[in-house]
Amino acid sequence: MARDRNTVSPINPWPKVAWALVAGVAVISIGLGFGVLSRYQQNDPTLDLWSAICRGLGLNADIAPAKESEPALRTPSRIAWTTHTLDQVSAGDVRHGSFIAMNCVACHGQNGLSKSTVAPTLAGMDAAAIFKQLDDFRFGKRTSGVMEAIAKTLSVRDSADVAAYLAAQKDRLPPLPPARIPESGHGPRESDPAKRLVYAGDPRRGIAPCSSCHGPGGYKLGAPALHGQQAAYIERQLASFAQGLRQNDIFEQMRVIARQLTTDEMQALAAFYAGALQSPPTTHAGAHEDAP
Ligand code: HEC
Ligand code: HEC
Repeated sequence: MARDRNTVSPINPWPKVAWALVAGVAVISIGLGFGVLSRYQQNDPTLDLWSAICRGLGLNADIAPAKESEPALRTPSRIAWTTHTLDQVSAGDVRHGSFIAMNCVACHGQNGLSKSTVAPTLAGMDAAAIFKQLDDFRFGKRTSGVMEAIAKTLSVRDSADVAAYLAAQKDRLPPLPPARIPESGHGPRESDPAKRLVYAGDPRRGIAPCSSCHGPGGYKLGAPALHGQQAAYIERQLASFAQGLRQNDIFEQMRVIARQLTTDEMQALAAFYAGALQSPPTTHAGAHEDAP
């Protein structure tokens, strides 16, 4: 009894001190936890006191729609490889196309065989690939000041016609060899990084061999041939895909690959393709298929 009275005795200050300490720590903790720390958000602006207290208590009133606007849904291309599209492409009239192609000479060279590093060679490119790129330029799916303006002047028929003409050129990107692997030993152990990517890809990064879509051997509808193309052009396109400046590849097939490539690899691939299979173009005399 005496001991009890002693504990709560007004003369003994320690219980009060202890209570005061506990209360002080509690007040500071509540203040810090609900009023200070919970106001600061990692990615959002600092909250006001009331929201911070609610957030601290787990009452999240943040049911309004997210502030940042959603990017508009963007389809990479209007072209889908339906039989309708393929019919449009194959209906291309080479003779009419040869007239339209006169407007392309200034940049893409005589008969689409480019001598500039800016504009790609179109001679011998698959008609479907040319047709798709023209449609993409026309509708702003692929950006290029000049080409968007030029493609807008062409109708769907014109595009098919000029594509048919350019694809039929004999003086052109060199034809691909029939075999998938032109020389033996082009496997995953190939030491040349460009050849390795072209013929074996890189399974660790999920990169399919370029040749499985661009040839030789494989072929993906709409994938332009790259052998003999301008190195600077190839490199620029790879960089554009990687940076998302070019987004017209269906299913992001090229963006996914290009993002994984280093700049050295892009350069090596461009040099490889520009130099690979480089055979002197066939005689200029045979260039005009439809010449009388
Ligand atoms: C003033 C120069 C200029 C003229 C004229 C021009 N082009 Fe182009 N074209 C370019 C450039 C530059 C590019 C490459 C754009 C890029 O880097 O993305 C290009 C790209 C293209 C491509 C994409 C090729 C690919 O490999 O993806 C096609 C197809 C094309 N042009 C067709 C045409 C046709 C058809 C004409 C004529 C009716 C034409 N161009 C006239 C400058 C021109
Ligand atoms: C899964 C198939 C696929 C693979 C694998 C692939 N590509 Fe492509 N590539 C495409 C398609 C399809 C396009 C055409 C995109 C479009 O419609 O604009 C393309 C376009 C390109 C272009 C632009 C050509 C032009 O004329 O505008 C370059 C350059 C290119 N690819 C390089 C490569 C390289 C280098 C590799 C290997 C590292 C590779 N691609 C692997 C499907 C593929």
